[in-house]
Amino acid sequence: MLLLPLLLSISAPARAADSFDEAAWYAQTCVACHGAAGKGDGPAAAALTPKPANFTDAAFWAARTDDVVKKAIKEGGPAVGKSPIMAPLGAGLTDGQLTEVVAYLKTFKGKK
Ligand code: HEC
Repeated sequence: MLLLPLLLSISAPARAADSFDEAAWYAQTCVACHGAAGKGDGPAAAALTPKPANFTDAAFWAARTDDVVKKAIKEGGPAVGKSPIMAPLGAGLTDGQLTEVVAYLKTFKGKK
């Protein structure tokens, strides 16, 4: 019976990770700059130089690996040679959650 609390304490963080909603996280954390449709045209974008990345642009995805995209989100723009305006917003995410975020960003690819 000692096992039960132990198992619960192990499975609780796993459940929390599974309930991570990358679309909601994007809406909350990224939309102001990257825009609701991922075009890099959020309300804050007009004032920024360089402009936020446009995730609908196939050339953006052709020019970098998923690992570089994950690194930019986790460690910020400077970690991949980009602007510090892109902050390390994903620093608190697990690798699995970062993978989910990248998959979500790719849903914008090729959209108008
Ligand atoms: C304050 C505005 C701002 C917010 C908020 C923001 N970004 Fe960015 N992001 C930028 C800017 C500006 C760039 C372009 C940097 C450059 O080209 O030097 C960028 C670039 C990127 C890149 C491309 C890095 C590369 O390899 O070129 C990715 C991926 C990215 N952002 C993801 C995200 C995600 C995911 C979120 C939400 C968690 C987010 N950004 C939130 C401004 C922002």
